[in-house]
Amino acid sequence: MSQVVQSRRIRAVDLAKRKAEGRKIIALTAYHAHTASILDPHCDFILVGDSLGMVMHGMESTLPVTLEMMIVQAQAVMRGTSRALIVVDMPFGSYEASPEQAFLNAARVLKETGAGAIKMEGGARFAETVAFLVQRGIPVMGHIGLTPQSVNTMGGFKVQGREADGEERLMRDAKAISDAGAFAIVMEGIVEPVARAIALSSEIAAATIGIGATSLCDGQILVLEDMLGLSDRAPKFVKRFGSLRAQIEGAVEAYAEEVRAGRFPAEEHTYQPL
Ligand code: KIV
Repeated sequence: MSQVVQSRRIRAVDLAKRKAEGRKIIALTAYHAHTASILDPHCDFILVGDSLGMVMHGMESTLPVTLEMMIVQAQAVMRGTSRALIVVDMPFGSYEASPEQAFLNAARVLKETGAGAIKMEGGARFAETVAFLVQRGIPVMGHIGLTPQSVNTMGGFKVQGREADGEERLMRDAKAISDAGAFAIVMEGIVEPVARAIALSSEIAAATIGIGATSLCDGQILVLEDMLGLSDRAPKFVKRFGSLRAQIEGAVEAYAEEVRAGRFPAEEHTYQPL
């Protein structure tokens, strides 16, 4: 008799369980199969973020990122993983026009990649869209606070919640998205007291995921290249857990030096006749 052992990926609903049990949710971004495979055993979810436009492609903002770019990189991340929930960012222009537009593009992402959820930026004004998607079988992660796709209307990548009505506005955004059925909400670049109030609010059912917000969130996420020390500049909220840029520079310098000196390739790197 054949026996099939099925290893099951973490699903969006499992993050609610993590929140209820008070177990921190661990997340990072990844855009490639090889890095995603390193993250997979350690992360509850991996976000294929539209930050790939800036990090991989050197764009000045995430605005030029297309749905096709997101799908190709999400397919790579799916190939490199078997355990973590994979969440794919909806890029600018792929969901804002109407709930129907959002559904058609989100369904395409899930069909073509096999990912388990999508993420959309925006607060209360997108609650109707979130509900439309969730009611039709698409798990949605929200994203409030500093929403990079709104860089032009925000007037830059600005920390949110400092204005007089900041707490009221952001609390309203979080509650609207949570009530609409989002399973989690990324809270980016929000001042500590406001982030804390949202994270501790009993009215927010969705798991809160901080990035430049409070440690009291149900989980945390960082852009992998930032925390590895691969990016040359990173925001204040990033802790460098590695210094890959310096290590890569060292390795490339050593390679160039050995090639110039004729020491590489050495005998053990060459093929001999049989
Ligand atoms: O695109 C991204 O990487 C993100 C994270 C910063 C949360 O949205």
